[in-house]
Amino acid sequence: MNRDQTLKEMGLGPIWKLRQPPKKKRGAASDTASAAPVDARTAAIAAMGWDELQQAVADCQACELCKTRKQAVLGVGDPDADWLFVGEGPGAEEDERGEPFVGKAGKLLDNMLAAIDLQRGQQVYIANAVKCRPPDNRTPEPGETAACWPFLARQIELIQPKLIVTLGKPAAQTLLQQEVKIADARGRVHDFAGMPLIVTYHPAYLLRNLPDKAKAWEDLCFMRQTMRAL
Ligand code: URA
Repeated sequence: MNRDQTLKEMGLGPIWKLRQPPKKKRGAASDTASAAPVDARTAAIAAMGWDELQQAVADCQACELCKTRKQAVLGVGDPDADWLFVGEGPGAEEDERGEPFVGKAGKLLDNMLAAIDLQRGQQVYIANAVKCRPPDNRTPEPGETAACWPFLARQIELIQPKLIVTLGKPAAQTLLQQEVKIADARGRVHDFAGMPLIVTYHPAYLLRNLPDKAKAWEDLCFMRQTMRAL
């Protein structure tokens, strides 16, 4: 897909500007990875390989979401990916099919990936902050993201991505462990345990807010530039 086709697909006019990436912050471990005491469940998950993780997620009953899910959705993609995209949680189609971002928002995410020459499964892993569908696609509660966090933490540990991209507020807040306003947090490189992390809008939000698609395009260019400079 060339740039014009991509812009068309994303519903964009040629109104974007390429940002200069700010200096990368690297090396410092994040505060979130430090002092909290580790419980037995977290410790067990932290030692799992992919197969055990898949099974543990499928069997998980750590929060109420297990009661309404059809199936838990661990993630999809290249286990050695350079890029890790983290969304919010499965929707109805993901719950049905067991794969993240396979509905309308997923189609837009695939187009966004294609815009920077990426494809799901090829150097890309896609996960969610919570692995089970919140009823009526509501935003996951803090207790639910907290209960699911050891799984995402283990995925990050196993993948060791070069760059993490959070899609939407719940994912950004889960990883940055602070209140995040996407409009303020985008356009710079954050740090997650020494890994660069970029915040952008959730594709489902972009489907409802066309003007912000131009900003998402800026973010895509910014993440590509950031990756190239790593
Ligand atoms: N929205 C998300 O955040 N994740 C999905 O997997 C699907 C929609």
